[in-house]
Amino acid sequence: MPALQVPPGVEGFLSLVELPDDAWRSRWDRIVAPDGLKERLLNFVLFSLRHRARLDPVGLPVHGLVVLSGPPGTGKTTLAGGLADRAARELGGSGLLFVEIDAHAFPSQLLGESQRAVARLFERTLPDLAARGRPTIVLLDEVEALAVSRAGASLDTNPVDVHRATDAVLAGIDHMARACPNVTFIATTNHEAGVDVAFLSRADAIERMGLPSAAAIEQILRDSISEVAKADGFDARALSALAKACADASLDARQVRKLVLRAITSRRELADDPSHLRVEDVAAALRQGR
Ligand SMILES: Nc1ncnc2c1ncn2[C@@H]1O[C@H](COP(=O)(O)OP(=O)(O)OP(=O)(O)O)[C@@H](O)[C@H]1O
Ligand SMILES: [Mg+2]
Repeated sequence: MPALQVPPGVEGFLSLVELPDDAWRSRWDRIVAPDGLKERLLNFVLFSLRHRARLDPVGLPVHGLVVLSGPPGTGKTTLAGGLADRAARELGGSGLLFVEIDAHAFPSQLLGESQRAVARLFERTLPDLAARGRPTIVLLDEVEALAVSRAGASLDTNPVDVHRATDAVLAGIDHMARACPNVTFIATTNHEAGVDVAFLSRADAIERMGLPSAAAIEQILRDSISEVAKADGFDARALSALAKACADASLDARQVRKLVLRAITSRRELADDPSHLRVEDVAAALRQGR
């Protein structure tokens, strides 16, 4: 499905797409997460999108906000998109709107302006989008840039402005929770301590994606190598030793996939014909990288 046009003059939208989209399927299928995490996320999003409108906010307060927290390269942004795509498939109907907010579009050093822009986003732009009546998922990627911790705000930014902008985000999230039950937020951060505590406390769930285990790395290596070579010929012992070495080196999942790329591009024959890539080539790339 083609990307929808972001309405002209809309500030803060990085992209707006309609899901499901077959090109997005792998964002769900190929991200390896700890047991149960994907299922919990999907259950939450489906519950929130289907039932929030009918819930009494005192009886069962659901803000429609889930936070994915973890180190860089652990799949948070990719999985957020995959989750939206998967939810769109489960919901059926006329499709889901997925909008990605540019958290860096609201620089807090502009006196009062970021506060006003954030307020416009949550009080006008997003409610206008929600008024289309479609299930809608809003990705607040790198939310530490938007809901800046008021306690830890750096001294070179104007603390009053940081306060005001963060206050506007909190008020905005509360407003959306009341007024737009068809909207669910997914926020990501690789710096949870930099996110305001009041924002985190509004989250219905905080899911933490840590560095991948050796077993997860093995799965990722197999998946990455099979992108270019036949996976059935892999030496299982060598693969599991390599996965362990990657885990010992504390590689994140992105680095694991880049390692496979490095192995391919380290030799001209493989760059020309990567179908000959073997586990040993990737192990050699890891040794060379140290
Ligand atoms: N858990 C994972 N399983 C499989 N592949 C992964 C995983 N995490 C990351 N990757 C690979 O790394 C790419 C980049 O991941 P992504 O950008 O989603 O990470 P992130 O957690 O959002 O990082 P950052 O905090 O730096 O924004 C993915 O598209 C995928 O190829
Ligand atoms: Mg990310």
